Amino acid sequence: TKERSFIAIKPDGVHRGMISNIISRFEQKGYKLVGIKVIVPGMDLAKAHYAEHEGKPFFNKLTSFLTSGPVVAMVWEGKEVIKYGRTMIGATNPLASAPGTIRGDFCVDMGRNMIHGSDGPESAQREIALWFQPSEIAEYESAT
Ligand code: CMP
Repeated sequence: TKERSFIAIKPDGVHRGMISNIISRFEQKGYKLVGIKVIVPGMDLAKAHYAEHEGKPFFNKLTSFLTSGPVVAMVWEGKEVIKYGRTMIGATNPLASAPGTIRGDFCVDMGRNMIHGSDGPESAQREIALWFQPSEIAEYESAT
């Protein structure tokens, strides 16, 4: 089955030069990049993206950080990419994320955890539709 996840490199990841490192990890694992763009999200998009956190004490910080710079928005496709993508990203709190994961290897702050990955099939569908037009998603078969 063709599962897809929304994966975004946040402004701290772009600022620290981690775009290629993060893309490499997903590519080398065997996932397929079917959508990618660089965007400085507006507040409307940031709030919609983090709608489930509205009302939480960190909501303002979270949305203003996401709008503070470039985000690399991506759609990755492959077997269990939603769940396994989260495994590759590591726990939300970088100090609880295992070495070998993206956050475990590169981050120490909860508010600067570098990358976002959809947490389930419904969020994946919602987030992909929020960040991408259908025409911006490539349909193709891998060579392998
Ligand atoms: P992300 O995977 O993008 O999804 C929600 C984000 O909220 C999460 O990464 C963290 O960056 C942020 N977050 C979650 N809990 C807290 C918290 N207690 N304080 C600050 N930020 C948080």
